[in-house]
Amino acid sequence: MTTNEKIRTPKEIDRGRLLFAGECEFLMGAVSLDTLPKANAVEVAFAGRSNVGKSSLLNALTGRKSLARTSNTPGRTQQLNYFYLGNREDFGLYLVDLPGYGFAKVPKDQVEAWTELVKDYLRGRPNLRRVLLLIDGRHGLKRNDKDIMKMLDVSAVSYQIVLTKLDKLKANDREKIIQKTSEDTKKFVACHPEVLTTSSEKKWGLEELRAEVATLALE
Ligand code: GTP
Ligand code: MG
Repeated sequence: MTTNEKIRTPKEIDRGRLLFAGECEFLMGAVSLDTLPKANAVEVAFAGRSNVGKSSLLNALTGRKSLARTSNTPGRTQQLNYFYLGNREDFGLYLVDLPGYGFAKVPKDQVEAWTELVKDYLRGRPNLRRVLLLIDGRHGLKRNDKDIMKMLDVSAVSYQIVLTKLDKLKANDREKIIQKTSEDTKKFVACHPEVLTTSSEKKWGLEELRAEVATLALE
């Protein structure tokens, strides 16, 4: 796969592998911001439209099939689910699996409530080191993705696009969506310039993503 991904050193890849080979423990599901864990570790959140593959990617990264619950039906994740990943106190971080925004097969007012909760969380969490903003490779950036990106720009929260489900595309179309998404992200100031490319199904791009997360946790 041709990508715009930077070359990672064997040391960075190793660090990612080590981190994700450690314990990963489900801590809690939060339904409001006043019940979040203390902001005492680096935090990386998985955000994106409903059904884009947030929970699946978390499982693929940690190599645990059902750590986070996944489903065919949009609207599976209904809380801010906190996981603690790490071998030691000084080499660990929170991973947060968020409810999706946009369409979900649950009542509209519930989706609106989650979306507000997710937005408040993204804007206001002091230890949020980076948001991994997942985008379905078949669809690219949609209007509500761009709305979230604008909000993150305004709030100066660092985020990075992760294309998902790339196994569902032909090689040629993969190339196009990677190029198009990279181009589209240029006007968003807080967006990391590198677009990461993944398939949880085929385990594509996981080593690079693990390395990126390990770097965030350590530096
Ligand atoms: P919500 O919690 O509802 O917002 O969804 P989510 O973003 O957590 O998505 P989830 O991980 O539950 O996955 C949604 C569906 O997409 C499931 O049926 C997954 O099996 C499927 N899926 C996720 N990742 C991939 C992938 O890389 N390739 C393919 N082919 N399917 C995937
Ligand atoms: Mg989910």
